[in-house]
Amino acid sequence: MSDSEQLRDKIFALKEKKNAIILAHNYQREEVQDIADYRGDSLELSRLAATTDCDVIVFCGVHFMAESASILSPDKTVLLPEISAGCPMADMIAAGSARKARTQFPGFEYREEFTYPAEFSLKDIKKLHPGAPVVSYVNTTAEVKAESDICCTSANGVKVVESLESDTVISVPDKNLSAWIAKNTKKKIISWDGFCHVHERATATDVESSREEHPDALILAHPECRMEVLELADHVTSTSGMLRYAEKSDAQEFIIGTETGLLYKLRKDNPAKTFYPLRKDMVCPNMKKTSLTSVLHCLETETYKIKVPEEIRVPAKKALDRMLEVK
Ligand code: 13P
Ligand code: SF4
Repeated sequence: MSDSEQLRDKIFALKEKKNAIILAHNYQREEVQDIADYRGDSLELSRLAATTDCDVIVFCGVHFMAESASILSPDKTVLLPEISAGCPMADMIAAGSARKARTQFPGFEYREEFTYPAEFSLKDIKKLHPGAPVVSYVNTTAEVKAESDICCTSANGVKVVESLESDTVISVPDKNLSAWIAKNTKKKIISWDGFCHVHERATATDVESSREEHPDALILAHPECRMEVLELADHVTSTSGMLRYAEKSDAQEFIIGTETGLLYKLRKDNPAKTFYPLRKDMVCPNMKKTSLTSVLHCLETETYKIKVPEEIRVPAKKALDRMLEVK
C-alpha cells in the first residue's frame, strides 16, 4: 500500500470514529479534493456547513471559510487543518481598527494600489455613507461580517444587492467583484479597495493571447478578475458555476480564468473536453497548504479549532443567514 493510500485509510477510519465531515474548496490540492465528502464553492460549502448533522467539520480551505462554518454551526467542532491558510484579500479590510492593526495573518502591508488610507476601517466607510447597507463578500473576517447587513459570494453577489431596498450599497472588500456587481445592477455601489492577488494577475493581454492560441475556446472568468478580463470573457461565474457551465456547454475547449485548482475537477468531470488555464501562475498558495498529512493531523489532534466569540458570531450569523435566504 502506498503512503498516500495509508494516509487516506487512516483519515477515513478517524473520520468515521469522530462522526466528521470533510469539506474541500474547489481550489484544494487534487488528493485533498479526492478524500472530501463534499467539494464546492463558498456558497455551497456555507450551505452544507449550516445543515450538516455531523459532530466535526474539517474545512479544507482558508480561514474565513472555517470561520463561516463555525458561525453557522456553533455547536460543531470546526477544524482548519492549516492555521496559517488565510485569504490576503480578507485582511485588506478591518471592522473597526486600521487595517494594519487588525490582520489575522502576518505579512500584511499597505499597498500603493489602495485608495483608502491605511487607518480606514469598515466603520469609517459606513460613516461616510450613512444608511447605506453593507454587503460583505464571504472572504472577510467574522468581525467584518458582524458589521455588515448581509454577505454575498461570487455566486450570488448581484442577487444579494438586488434583494436590498436601498439604492446605494457598500460592497467590501473586493473592488473587482464590486465593479462586476455595479455593472449588473442599477444600484449605486460604493466599493472598498481590496483585491485577490491571484485573480488580479490576469490581464486583458492574457485573454487576447489565450484567444489567439485557442480560437475555439470559451473564456470563463471569476468575478475576482479585473474588469478588463471580465469584459472580454464569455461567461463570468463562481468556481462551481464554471463546473456547471462547462458540463452543459456544447463547446469543447475552455480557458479558465480562476485559480488553477479548479482544472482538476473540470477535467475529471469532462474527459472529452479540453481546459487551459488563463495563466499558469494563478495559484493560491494558502489554498495549497492543506495536505493529506495535515488533514490526518487535524483529525488526530482536533486542531486547529476555529471558534468565533458569541458577541461577534451572533451578528455575523445574521449577515450570513440573510444571504442564505436570498433565492
Ligand atoms: P468561489 O466562491 O467562487 O469558490 O470563490 C472563492 C474564492 O476564494 C475565490 O478566490
Ligand atoms: Fe483569497 Fe484569492 Fe486565495 Fe481566494 S484565491 S482564497 S480570494 S487569495
